[in-house]
Amino acid sequence: MKKVALLVAAALIAPSAAFAHQAGDILVRGGAVMVSPTTDANDPLDVQSNMQLGLTFSYMVTDNWGVELLAATPFSHSVESGGNEVAKVKHLPPSLMAQYYFGSAQSKVRPYVGAGINYTFFFDEEGKGLLSGTNVKADDSWGLAAQAGLDMKVTDNLFVNGSVWYMDIDTDVKTDLETFKTEIDPIGLMVGLGYRF
Ligand code: NI
Repeated sequence: MKKVALLVAAALIAPSAAFAHQAGDILVRGGAVMVSPTTDANDPLDVQSNMQLGLTFSYMVTDNWGVELLAATPFSHSVESGGNEVAKVKHLPPSLMAQYYFGSAQSKVRPYVGAGINYTFFFDEEGKGLLSGTNVKADDSWGLAAQAGLDMKVTDNLFVNGSVWYMDIDTDVKTDLETFKTEIDPIGLMVGLGYRF
């Protein structure tokens, strides 16, 4: 009887065992992001891949629903035409996502999906090769974004993260010669660590 009483007491004293991601948590993730444009062969311009540091900030509204702001250090893409570099552009693609996390606050693995909106602004556009010394300007872009990811608990606060994003980024690249409608529509692949506050 004494043993049972002790067990009951221990259960009452023990903190309510939530292992990961519950309402009110702030999740910060950081890692390497590879952004690979999905320009196809019909596009006049071919935008090359680039790797940067990605940062995401999520707030858990409930145990299963969160909102995420996705940020990164500026991506720098080489733009090619017929295999020759004609421009370099930099951009920042901040995105705001509504996320749904599968599982419960007790789950050690939390897969999630998200959908939202992306705003991409371009800067430091620079003509190269044939366009060297000419004006190059890429228009900012608003578009839809989607993601899927997985958080895996390491310690109570630390977790590993892998996620993939898709962003609909379309821009007009304006040059002195002509304006090129360019669909960058990149896939982003991020692998990193997260911390739960
Ligand atoms: Ni597009």
